[in-house]
Amino acid sequence: MIELKHISKIYEGANRVEALKDISLTIEQGQIYGIIGQSGAGKSTLIRCINMLEVPTSGNVIIDGTDLTTLNEKQLREERKYIGMIFQHFNLLSSRTVYDNVAFPLELQGMSKAEIKERILPILDIVKLSDRLDNYPSQLSGGQKQRVGIARALASNPKVLLCDEATSALDPQTTKSILELLKDINQKLNLTIVLITHEMQVIREICDRVAVIEGGVILEEGTVVDVFTNPQEATTKDFISAVVSDNLPPEALEHLELHDEWIEGTAPLVRLKFTGQATDEPVVAGLVKRFDLDVSILFGGVDYIQNTSVGRLILILNGDRTKAQEGLHYLNELNIGSEVIGYVRANH
Ligand SMILES: Nc1ncnc2c1ncn2[C@@H]1O[C@H](COP(=O)(O)OP(=O)(O)OP(=O)(O)O)[C@@H](O)[C@H]1O
Ligand SMILES: [Mg+2]
Repeated sequence: MIELKHISKIYEGANRVEALKDISLTIEQGQIYGIIGQSGAGKSTLIRCINMLEVPTSGNVIIDGTDLTTLNEKQLREERKYIGMIFQHFNLLSSRTVYDNVAFPLELQGMSKAEIKERILPILDIVKLSDRLDNYPSQLSGGQKQRVGIARALASNPKVLLCDEATSALDPQTTKSILELLKDINQKLNLTIVLITHEMQVIREICDRVAVIEGGVILEEGTVVDVFTNPQEATTKDFISAVVSDNLPPEALEHLELHDEWIEGTAPLVRLKFTGQATDEPVVAGLVKRFDLDVSILFGGVDYIQNTSVGRLILILNGDRTKAQEGLHYLNELNIGSEVIGYVRANH
């Protein structure tokens, strides 16, 4: 659906900035694709290249088979109708009502009043603004303003919706409701959504795939579940740790003496990570029953990412050393990520 091939963007000027460096990615029809990165990473530049608001210095932007970089202004205007965009600060016209804001792009396209009405009333219904048609933006909450932004973007029947930090100006509750709305229209209208954000929470909430961008380069890319459970890059781990903590809370370590080596009188401290089905495995019972270990649970939690459960558990395997070794072997054999963090003084 969207294919970016070797996109580079250099801003010339007093300070020459290489904002994007050879970015290639593919976004499938119907996907919600997240791009996450810190401030200045190049997110806005990248998303603006998708509708050619920013012309790439080199590379190709192919949408539904059409290479936008080869089109003239008129052809580009035509193609842009199929690419809606919403913004962090909504960009509504303050002198126009809700209805007239949503009607605006269609008026520009020369559509008749009757056609416009027929087109936008159902959209205003989807975004739940049917009772607000005559309000002005100043009379709306942030969440309602973004709903107007979404309705305006949907008015041209786009195939793609680009969201530039669409929830960054909203409180967490409103953010949730806007993300739910995006998910809803993604499913109802089979709309492909590209969403940029600096919040992993947003990615986790609705995205199918995610790309992590830093310094104009894509660091890693994959399904949200894979990236969340097996991040490769330090930057990705930082983003994830903001929403999923898989480190031992410091309080839990306070009463323990942690060693790097398995010295006499210590027991292994293991971190388990399991996704999906594996969560149903009676792992702890297995360790207790099969190896006669005295298992202490230090920390545990289950998160749900895209309906997949992602569990974390930190255990101490107290007991006979040989049995504890067998226990570790058993954990390795199971389809779960297990990692020995260190060895702690046993509690008996
Ligand atoms: N019009 C411009 N002219 C010159 N440099 C620019 C321009 N727009 C962006 N840049 C530079 O390009 C780099 C990437 O900027 P961009 O706005 O894409 O980052 P971002 O990831 O969207 O950041 P934020 O999260 O703060 O919105 C930055 O170094 C920025 O200063
Ligand atoms: Mg930006």
